[in-house]
Amino acid sequence: MIDHEIKIAFKEYSSLDELNNQDKQLCQEAEKAMTQSHSPYSRFKVGAALRLQSGKIIYGSNQENVAYPSGLCAERVALFYWGANYSDDPVESIAITAHTHEFTITKPITPCGSCLQVLAEYEKKQGGKIKIILYCLDGPVWITNGIESFLPFMFFEDRLALTV
Ligand code: THU
Repeated sequence: MIDHEIKIAFKEYSSLDELNNQDKQLCQEAEKAMTQSHSPYSRFKVGAALRLQSGKIIYGSNQENVAYPSGLCAERVALFYWGANYSDDPVESIAITAHTHEFTITKPITPCGSCLQVLAEYEKKQGGKIKIILYCLDGPVWITNGIESFLPFMFFEDRLALTV
């Protein structure tokens, strides 16, 4: 038997003011994205903003449906929009934020497993890491460089992409 241990790393900033201007701006864009959230069922609004290499910003927000499983998280709305429209312009960073009137969110929300897996796919596709910025409106900001810290056991099998 072998005992393995994996350490993950992320940086914590106490507020937006500690970030560089680009990251700070992207957090504000995520906040803007959140205003388009369609979340009458959870009443939990999530916004995501992607900064592309060209400087272009694209947005996503959670979109829910009365048939619950038909909805989609903010991150995947933004990432699939990127995949469908801008995949030749690499994603440099993603900022994510959330808000609800039901309670105060005091630490950053982290993307769900499916969104992490989609981030992993697109990092592979573009051949470059995506900086992940988790912005809590009433708390700290967590930043990690690339998906691996959040998903050290991400599923990826090169041999499935037979044509690449
Ligand atoms: N949600 C996101 O959009 N992103 C996350 O990272 C976690 C959860 C959405 C899905 C659903 O619309 C609502 O938040 C409550 O789970």
